[in-house]
Amino acid sequence: MAASTAAPDPVARDGGARPGSADRVDLSNRSTAVGLERIGVVGGGTMGSGIVHAALAAGIPVTLVEADAAALARADALVRRSLAGAEARGKLGAAVGGPGAPSTAEAALEGLTLTTDRSALAEAPFVIEAVPEILDLKSGVLRDIETHLADDAVLATNTSSLSLATLGAGLRRPQRFVGTHFFNPVPVQVLLELVRTSATDAPTLERARALARRLRKEVVEVTDSPGFATSRLGVALGLEATRMVQEGVATPEDIDKAMVLGYRYPMGPCRLGDLVGHDVRLGIAEYLASTLGPRFEPPHLLRDMVARGDLGQKSGRGFYDWTKD
Ligand SMILES: NC(=O)c1ccc[n+]([C@@H]2O[C@H](COP(=O)([O-])OP(=O)(O)OC[C@H]3O[C@@H](n4cnc5c(N)ncnc54)[C@H](O)[C@@H]3O)[C@@H](O)[C@H]2O)c1
Repeated sequence: MAASTAAPDPVARDGGARPGSADRVDLSNRSTAVGLERIGVVGGGTMGSGIVHAALAAGIPVTLVEADAAALARADALVRRSLAGAEARGKLGAAVGGPGAPSTAEAALEGLTLTTDRSALAEAPFVIEAVPEILDLKSGVLRDIETHLADDAVLATNTSSLSLATLGAGLRRPQRFVGTHFFNPVPVQVLLELVRTSATDAPTLERARALARRLRKEVVEVTDSPGFATSRLGVALGLEATRMVQEGVATPEDIDKAMVLGYRYPMGPCRLGDLVGHDVRLGIAEYLASTLGPRFEPPHLLRDMVARGDLGQKSGRGFYDWTKD
């Protein structure tokens, strides 16, 4: 891999426990926590590849499962690019991933197994599903994954809004099912929203908390409910801001400025919608309207923007013009 040459090893400089040559990882030190000897990730897109990066950077070996060979190659490239970028920014090594963590992208990638064969997940005591936010797809994938796992393995979903009660309805071991809602980009964002159902048992929650500690994430724990805490509040604010633009109350620029300067938000709701994607926001709003009630009914401006293809940054236009940046 181009990004990983025989660069000096920062771990060696700070006295980390890295016996052997400077560019090799002490594999025995990679993961000691019971139940986190390896994680499985199913779906290596934006979020899955980020979770893989974060785990490898923490020294946890990963089995990444994709739908087909082409998707697997794309996922591999995403993980490699992400780790190479982290290495270039000095964001790998013991200071980031803990004792024994790899300090080069190449060393981190030694822990990665890529496959399209879900039966390879049998060796992972903690598996995270990160396929697209489509209810039927996700619940089918979850049911199938479960058939490959050890009885005490934890099965987690990275859904950003779908109720776990619905998603996990067909699972045989609902007590081992939990929500691990990571944020994008996973290696950078500190928050992990941990979602428990009424069936999730204590050892499952404890293992999920242990994973969060290994990945150096801050946890908020939420009882299963559509949209959890983050998406529900974030979408509520985004929808109201969109209604205000629709009604001519203020421009997107002034709404964002008001929230940034008046409420010290790091970013206003219109700009955030552009970054998230208005199609994604519309999908969550429709789901929340169908489950939590009409207060989440999407304003017609949001539907119009999506129909026009004004999806935000990814399409070049949303509330803002992104073609100039
Ligand atoms: N993108 C975000 O900002 C974000 C943030 C938090 C949570 N989420 C949630 O994370 C999940 C994944 O979102 P994403 O943005 O990474 O999506 P994505 O489209 O970037 O990636 C999904 C991946 O799943 C793969 N996939 C599809 N079907 C599969 C199958 N049957 N088996 C294995 N892999 C399969 C695809 O090939 C793709 O690589 C969704 O539930 C989403 O709501 C997304």
